[in-house]
Amino acid sequence: MADKKAQLIIEGAAPVELPILTGTMGPDVVDVRGLTATGSYTFDPGFMSTASCESQITFIDGDKGVLLHRGYPIEQLAEKSDYLETCYLLLKGELPNAAQKEQFVSTIKNHTMVHEQLKSFFNGFRRDAHPMAVMCGVVGALSAFYHDSLDINDPRHREISAMRLIAKMPTIAAMVYKYSMGQPMMYPRNDLTYAENFLHMMFNTPCETKPISPILGKAMDRIFILHADHEQNASTSTVRLAGSSGANPFACIAAGIAALWGPAHGGANEAVLRMLDEIGDVSNIDKFVAKAKDKNDPFKLMGFGHRVYKNFDPRAKVMKQTCDEVLSELGINDPQLELAMKLEELARQDPYFKERNLYPNVDFYSGIILKAIGIPTSMFTVIFALARTVGWISHWQEMLSSPYKIGRPRQLYTGHQERNFVGLSDRK
Ligand code: SDX
Repeated sequence: MADKKAQLIIEGAAPVELPILTGTMGPDVVDVRGLTATGSYTFDPGFMSTASCESQITFIDGDKGVLLHRGYPIEQLAEKSDYLETCYLLLKGELPNAAQKEQFVSTIKNHTMVHEQLKSFFNGFRRDAHPMAVMCGVVGALSAFYHDSLDINDPRHREISAMRLIAKMPTIAAMVYKYSMGQPMMYPRNDLTYAENFLHMMFNTPCETKPISPILGKAMDRIFILHADHEQNASTSTVRLAGSSGANPFACIAAGIAALWGPAHGGANEAVLRMLDEIGDVSNIDKFVAKAKDKNDPFKLMGFGHRVYKNFDPRAKVMKQTCDEVLSELGINDPQLELAMKLEELARQDPYFKERNLYPNVDFYSGIILKAIGIPTSMFTVIFALARTVGWISHWQEMLSSPYKIGRPRQLYTGHQERNFVGLSDRK
């Protein structure tokens, strides 16, 4: 992969040749591993121009608005596949044949229940705790229940942990919601699809088990697909970094959940709905667009912009189309959708947003569908974490399946030079 070279000339030092590596698609990378011989490091806060690893799972072309999972465009997966099939693809690299799919779905269905004692774990949380706080705690606690699959060097243990996490996240997410509502937690139903089962555990009660709308089940499944993976984003990079120390998979996924929570990342879907609530009416849009442009105002247009996409996020396009379908099929006329569309239109006409290539991202429309399905705003990022678990665990698996090193970045130190301790009595 390295037939081109870069030459780095540092004043006072011999030139350094650095191999340039070429992937299947996307930009070349300059392999800077040889730089340590010069005693210098690269400096790239926020990893704006740093490739942290080699991967074969997901490819994004930010300029063209392309997203491929193992080579398959997200638009085709969203239309023709289902979430568990996409999970198989992300984990194993190929779409399953009929027998493989049946086996995979059966394995997932047989791991949907959690240890009965996990229920008591919830009692330590306040009922009004943010669902993501509970999610972080409970998923991290899974390593206290599943000691039989924590050897990260055993491929079989890694496989069992991956299945358990994918299977149990909907159950735990629904438990988190039920706990916040003071309602009894529902057991999973293996006769339902993955997405229908999640909606069953969220909205049914022991007193009443309503059939799950196929429209909502399909919309939920598509939302899971659209959130399944996204290359080396902040939370996936967190999972890889945690995994590189040899931490167990449940702890690594809990770390990913924590990183996802931030409003700049997975917390944006919740923040978009709150922003639309705050804007309230089309007449206020100009004021909020001005705030978003004001460098002295920390306000940003939530659901807009992306580190990689400098074009439409292809997921946002599918999400918007799903939004239209679900709302019309449900006969819902949500003024917030009109408001969001007007906000997108006005922002996209503004030179500030055009010059910076700021487009709606995956989070801009997702909240409106989730609200139509009946999911409360505080649960939006929990849904994102549920769906992204397969992406996190696929990257974790990919890293552990070949030689890796513990992630340990260096720094540019600008603190004090060495100095001697000053006793308390000698301090001013
Ligand atoms: C996700 O990485 C992933 O793949 C993440 C994700 C995934 O699937 O894992 O796609 C999911 O996290 C989507 C992003 C959700 N976050 C939001 O919607 C929050 C609002 N967006 C911004 O915070 C921002 O756009 C980021 C964090 C998403 C990206 O930030 P970057 O890459 O650091 O870009 P930047 O902040 O350097 O922006 C460049 C310029 C800046 O202005 P200047 O310094 O050039 O004058 O654009 C401005 C920014 O101030 N800008 C915005 C803006 N986003 C960027 N200005 C107003 N509103 C915004 N939303």
